[in-house]
Amino acid sequence: MKKTVFGFLLLGGLSFLSSCRHQPENPPPPPGPTNPPVSNACHPDTVYFVNTILPILSSNCALSGCHDANTMQDGINLSSYAGIMSSGVIKISDPWDSDLLKAVTDNDPNDIMPPPPANPLTPQQINALYTWMSQGAQNNACQSACDTTVFTFSGAVSPIIQSRCEGCHSGGNPQGGILLTNYDQIKVQALNGKLFGTVSHANGFVPMPFGGNKIPDCEITQIKKWIDNGALNN
Ligand code: HEC
Repeated sequence: MKKTVFGFLLLGGLSFLSSCRHQPENPPPPPGPTNPPVSNACHPDTVYFVNTILPILSSNCALSGCHDANTMQDGINLSSYAGIMSSGVIKISDPWDSDLLKAVTDNDPNDIMPPPPANPLTPQQINALYTWMSQGAQNNACQSACDTTVFTFSGAVSPIIQSRCEGCHSGGNPQGGILLTNYDQIKVQALNGKLFGTVSHANGFVPMPFGGNKIPDCEITQIKKWIDNGALNN
């Protein structure tokens, strides 16, 4: 009898605790180094760290064995805003003189980053790094205009894969032996189920982007709709 009463009290106490824990309903985390404000709509002239810069660095530089938080080659960690800012590679007053831009634009094949056979950054990516730095290298983010009614290859899927996947899945030694640099290569992974499986973090697939955050739901929906619509070159 005593046990039952005790069990009842225990259960009651636990449910009281857990109901307590669920209110207030997950208040948004305060803006800070790891939680930049995201309430603002994307401004076309601003380059945002979370939307553009971090995807470039995480897929081209912050790889295991290179500049991720564990390896930190040359003491440089390009996997997070805090890591980047404390690695001494940014120069707001003169971006072209920063170690980051000097490394990605080096003419010497022995010194350029990322080292061959990885592809060099594209002129657009280099420009984005320059602009972001000249705008103060802030930890900023914006609400992208992602629209789930747009799900063509050229309008949605290709730009997503270029910014979020291509750094690791291009060049002479692509990660996992998988190339994602053109329509035909991407279509193969779409039709064998791996593209959606990996980006949606489905059971039985290696979650992509490897070691990074899941891409936004809206982009996953665009990819899903494109595949369901026949993975066309549209
Ligand atoms: C930081 C590097 C990196 C990024 C960014 C990245 N991948 Fe990968 N990817 C890998 C590695 C490493 C593997 C091999 C994983 C393994 O076999 O354990 C891989 C494997 C894969 C595979 C094969 C999985 C399988 O089960 O055979 C697919 C498909 C894939 N990636 C798609 C993507 C897509 C789509 C994106 C972008 C949303 C992406 N990857 C971004 C590193 C990356």
